[in-house]
Formats: sequence, C-alpha cells, structure tokens
Amino acid sequence: MSNRIFNFNPGPSTLPLSVLEQVQAEFLDYQGTGMSITEISHRSKQFDDVVNRAVARVKRLLGLSDDYTVMFLQGGATMQFAQVPMNLCAGKTPAYIDTGTWSTKAIKDAKTLGLNPTVVASSEDKNFSYIPKDFTVPADAAYLHITSNNTIKGTQYHSFPETPDGVPLIADMSSDILSKPFDAAPFGYIYAGAQKNLGPAGTVMAIIRADMLERVPDDLPLMLKYTTQAAKNSMANTPSCFAIYVVELVLQWLEETIGGLDKIQELNQKKAKVVYDAIDNSGGFYSGAAALEDRSLMNVTFRIANPDLEAKFVAEAAEQGLGGLKGHRSVGGCRASIYNAMPMAGVEKLAEFMAEFAKANG
Ligand SMILES: Cc1ncc(COP(=O)(O)O)c(C=O)c1O
Repeated sequence: MSNRIFNFNPGPSTLPLSVLEQVQAEFLDYQGTGMSITEISHRSKQFDDVVNRAVARVKRLLGLSDDYTVMFLQGGATMQFAQVPMNLCAGKTPAYIDTGTWSTKAIKDAKTLGLNPTVVASSEDKNFSYIPKDFTVPADAAYLHITSNNTIKGTQYHSFPETPDGVPLIADMSSDILSKPFDAAPFGYIYAGAQKNLGPAGTVMAIIRADMLERVPDDLPLMLKYTTQAAKNSMANTPSCFAIYVVELVLQWLEETIGGLDKIQELNQKKAKVVYDAIDNSGGFYSGAAALEDRSLMNVTFRIANPDLEAKFVAEAAEQGLGGLKGHRSVGGCRASIYNAMPMAGVEKLAEFMAEFAKANG
C-alpha cells in the first residue's frame, strides 16, 4: 500500500502489514460467523480458540514449561506496577533496579502500597543512560523487578541479572518482549503492554510461574488477584477481545512468517546496526544517547549536535514518509523505535535520510 509510511512511533507502533491486511479482510465476517470479531461473544468457541492459540504460541515461542500460565490482562503495563507488589511479595520486601521512567514508576507504586522496596541499583547518576551491573540483591528479597528495555532512554539489558536462590526475577518487558530468545527459568513473572511488539493497545500479556500464584493473598479484590485470570484462561470477565485477536495474528506472523525468536533476534540485530552505524559514522553530527554496551535494539535514541536541528530533522523525515522520530517529551532528542514489525527497508531508508540530512545541515 503506497500511502503507508515507515512508522517509528514508540507505541502504539507499527504492525506487520500482512496482519493488518488479514484483520481488514476478515473484519466484517470472522470465519463465516457473519459477525465481526468485535461482535462475537468472548464465551464463543471462536474466541476461546483465539485465546488458546495465542497462549500456545507464546509457550512455543518461549519454550515455556507447564509451570507457566500465560494471561491477558487489562489496565496497561502501568497497572502492573501496583499489581506485582500486591500479589507477589509474600510478606517480604521487594527489590528493584531503577533504570528510569518505568521502573521509577514501579518503585513509586510499591511505596504507595506502604512497602519499603529496596532499590539495589540505579542509573540515575548518569541520567539513566546505562544499565547498572554492580549490585547485591538481598537473599531474602521477595523478588527483583527490572525493566528489560527502557523505551524512553533507549537502554536494554543484554543479559539478565542473577538473583540469589529463591528470589525470582520479575520483568516489565513491554518494549522488548519476544524480540529475542531468553531462558524463562529465572523469571517468576513477566508482563508486557501489547502495543509495541505484540499488537494493538488494550491488553497486557503476562506470564506467571506456578509458585508465584501461591503467593497471591486471599484478601485482594477479585480483579486484582493474578489467580483470578490464571484460573479462567483470561476470561474471568470480558477481555480485550479485539486486541487479543490481533496479538494472536502477530504471534502467528512471528512463528510462521519470521520463523521464531532466533530469526527475529538476527533481524533485530541487523536493523539496529543500520541505525547505530548511521549515528556512529556521522562524524559527530548525531550521537547516541545510551551507553554503547547497553544500547537498545528496539528504541534507538540519539541527539543532533546542534539541537536546534532536531525539530527540522523530525519534520523533514516525516515528509519523506519516516514518521514518529521525535524523542519522548521528557527527554527530547530523537528516537527511532524499530520493533519486530519494522522492516529492514524502513531502517535502510532512515539511515539514508540521516546521511542526507547531515550532509545538508552539517
Ligand atoms: C517499558 C514500559 N513499561 C510500561 C509502559 C506503560 O505501558 P501502558 O501504557 O500500557 O500502561 C510503557 C509504555 O510505553 C513502557 O514502555
């Protein structure tokens, strides 16, 4: 479709074109029902199949054992900042690593709940431009919570921290879920807002290990307990049917068209290299905002040596069909979000534009 742009928005963000086309093709009549997927009961066989397929795909993609339950929740990833400590502390003190914005908010919500979370490390000293590597996690911590990719600063864990025996890792993977393979074993709980790598906004994919479900206190309100949706295959109440349906199609694309997590990792590495090379080979016209070893493969953040040119860069890029390159309002600069669904052609066109813009304005 000729009028589609390369969309570098951070979320909601670009989705695979083949998925959007399938959604369009079957929107008025889902699988011969004479109804749209948005009109079908969540209690129908058709929708039940959608959820079951989505769950099975996540389990296959990540190689999850039966110890893990996959859920689709509401309230956004932000709701998880409160739900995690409500559900998973088991009377102990939670530990957090603060890599900015999202983990800062998660820590704040734990405090709001009257907890006194241990912040074992923070990269605030350098404006959250790196991932802390030197820290000790208390052996009696309830869990260690991390944000695997900071969407705003463009930093990403390239290996996950080790924790003492019995201290599960918990991760907000909103902006890099399913972008690479990883061993789920150390993780007790993983959550991700769908609107970046998984599909449209409106659902949060969560993966919970069986021993974490045992931690859930009885006295939480029904919809705040993880056990509620875990026991009902995410249908304890009306779920975000449309969002989950699109997520399932995106998972199908990832499994069947791309070929799984090893393949998408390879592609993501290649795509990120194209953009980082454009920055690093610009003779200082552009500079990366994150520490080299912690650069995100999902959100490439950069500045222009003359910041007055940043607005011009974003505007001229948009004229060329390269949209959404403005940095987050809290940090400024520029950002190219290159999630799973961003094609290689998009980053190549961006790199070309970056070189031309530097030549014209340097
Ligand atoms: C890493 C991370 N966590 C949490 C959120 C918040 O997600 P939501 O808007 O679904 O609450 C975002 C949103 O961009 C994010 O990037």
